[in-house]
Amino acid sequence: MKSFEKLLQENKNWAAEKQASEPGFFKQLAKEQKPEFLWIGCSDSRVPAEIIVNADPGEMFIHRNIANQMVMTDFNCLSVLQFAVAVLQVKHVIVCGHYNCGGVKAALSKQRYDLTITNKWLMHIKQVYRLHQDEINALPTEAQRIDRLVELNVIEQVQALSHTSIIQQAWSQQQKPMLHGWVYGLGDGLLKPLVTLESGCDIGPIFQYENAANV
Ligand code: CO
Repeated sequence: MKSFEKLLQENKNWAAEKQASEPGFFKQLAKEQKPEFLWIGCSDSRVPAEIIVNADPGEMFIHRNIANQMVMTDFNCLSVLQFAVAVLQVKHVIVCGHYNCGGVKAALSKQRYDLTITNKWLMHIKQVYRLHQDEINALPTEAQRIDRLVELNVIEQVQALSHTSIIQQAWSQQQKPMLHGWVYGLGDGLLKPLVTLESGCDIGPIFQYENAANV
């Protein structure tokens, strides 16, 4: 059996087991989704969002990209955020990074000449490094420098979320969602919370929308 055929076979097994253990599960779920969480994570295959939090289909709306970034000009992430917040009205948005992230590691290195598109994407993380380089450079090993940048990158992305009109409007109208920054350990499978922002928190004046309460 070829590797992709195994996936199709495993899917049949999974669907049959799910249907047997929870009759009507798919029929009910097919009607609508009401996820409570938006998850913004890294594309890394070792950080499968639903599996590490033991979530079922229907529980999390998910966006993943290299190094879990919320880039202001990325319509992909922004449209996921807008739909999750304005239509699904999720209660929580979680940015989840992970230690030893290849994207963060690459951003701390010289750029590979041939990875033209990926380099542009990682440039945003180089900017996070630039903001915090004194703290990062003071760490003794490369692994520690990468892991600290992983954490700082998560915190920066949560702050970037709070700078969007989507979040500021939702906070002024519904007092939600709560924003979370977490980091996942590849070596122990555990999540560590780093930061939480919620409606009413301090946002730098230049990032505030003056009419967020009225729109
Ligand atoms: Co990663």
